[in-house]
Amino acid sequence: MSDSGKHDPALTVRRILKVNHAGEFGAIRIYGAQIWMARRLFPDIVPALHEMREDEIDHCRQFREAMPSRKARPCRVMAFWSLGGYLLGFLTALGGRNMVWICTEAVESTVHRHLEDQLAFLQTRDTELHQLIASIQEQELAHLREAEENQTTRGMGHRLLLPIIGFLTDLMIWLSTWGDSSWMRAEMERPKQV
Ligand SMILES: [Fe+2]
Ligand SMILES: [Fe+2]
Repeated sequence: MSDSGKHDPALTVRRILKVNHAGEFGAIRIYGAQIWMARRLFPDIVPALHEMREDEIDHCRQFREAMPSRKARPCRVMAFWSLGGYLLGFLTALGGRNMVWICTEAVESTVHRHLEDQLAFLQTRDTELHQLIASIQEQELAHLREAEENQTTRGMGHRLLLPIIGFLTDLMIWLSTWGDSSWMRAEMERPKQV
């Protein structure tokens, strides 16, 4: 990717859509794997997970629908998001219900931070997409709150896993945006220059 291309707002908008769509797909897979495991190990949390998965399916569809008019295309490495999401969901569910909620907390809080950056970026550049992301962000925040409330303990597992899962989520986002997530953040710190 050339440097000049990197500072084209339309390209960044396309990357935002691409990574958000892929991320939602990854989230569907996380919840899917957790539901599969929870049905066998702790079925009481299946309805809550199922509801969140429905929201992610809806988000994924909305991002997909916002793509054509902005000439954006889905991520070429969806399989990577699919496998990453599935593994994360499966492994955390193996660790028990608390681990499931720690995973949700870590992923949703990382996503929330990225959405904040995107909202700041889009405010003057694409108000329609800004509105869509703001409404999705509200639901992601509800997922985060639910995950926080459902944790019975917050011991070592929480302290260790939260930063690790947060880092992995950040890494996936960074790789999928070719580092644009860092650029956007830096850009937000000096908004007047654009
Ligand atoms: Fe979502
Ligand atoms: Fe979510």
